[in-house]
Amino acid sequence: MDEDFAAHSLTSRLLDVMDQKHHWAYPRLTKPGLSRSQLLAHFQHEHAVYVRDFPVLLARALGQVPPLPDVRAALAENLYEEQTGGLSSTASHPELFLRMMDGLGFDRALFDDGAAELHPSAIGYRDWLREASAREPWQAAVALLTIFVEGSVNERAELGGTFRRSSGREAVSRHPLVVHYGCPEAAMELARAHAAVEGGHRSDAWNILTRHVPEDDGLADGVVETCERALAMWLAYRDGVAERMGLTRERAA
Ligand SMILES: [Fe+2]
Repeated sequence: MDEDFAAHSLTSRLLDVMDQKHHWAYPRLTKPGLSRSQLLAHFQHEHAVYVRDFPVLLARALGQVPPLPDVRAALAENLYEEQTGGLSSTASHPELFLRMMDGLGFDRALFDDGAAELHPSAIGYRDWLREASAREPWQAAVALLTIFVEGSVNERAELGGTFRRSSGREAVSRHPLVVHYGCPEAAMELARAHAAVEGGHRSDAWNILTRHVPEDDGLADGVVETCERALAMWLAYRDGVAERMGLTRERAA
């Protein structure tokens, strides 16, 4: 790991949060055996909670950033890719998500507003994301979206250089939806787009916080607290989705 990153205690506190961004039901999604209605419940929730509106959440955070050209440019670039796919020469990521659903044979109308009855924990997390992405300090909103929501449990290994993100065809051909659930590779542009651009966005996100959150005031605490709250709400949300999918902890291994 880069020494600056390792020495930065905010980074280490946020990595402690990201190490816990794992849910007991997650491994089930990477294995065969889920029914179509279970898959649908999962994807309807993901779409409604943060996929469809992620570009707008980023825009809310960007709208709070003071005149710091590096931060504004990094967020604008991320937002441009999310809402247009312009950097990866694909399409907006919410649209790519729906193309992946097309590939699974799920009608787009199933993802219309109100088509799914969301678990209350999902509504709670979604509404809190909307509110927190527009709330000061901007560093907490940016960390929430670019570190917590966009990041994964692999964050520490990725920063440390020991996790290799799959790319190109490999990102698609080995994807569980292709391997186990019959999604055609052509419908997996979302995985290709993420493989193409996400690495750069991950390092931008960490650089912004390292540069713009001083260690010696309460700001770092506020940033960490926001991400801890996000983790608690996300875990409750994933419990809610698992409940809707009829998964129980005993059977999830
Ligand atoms: Fe994305």
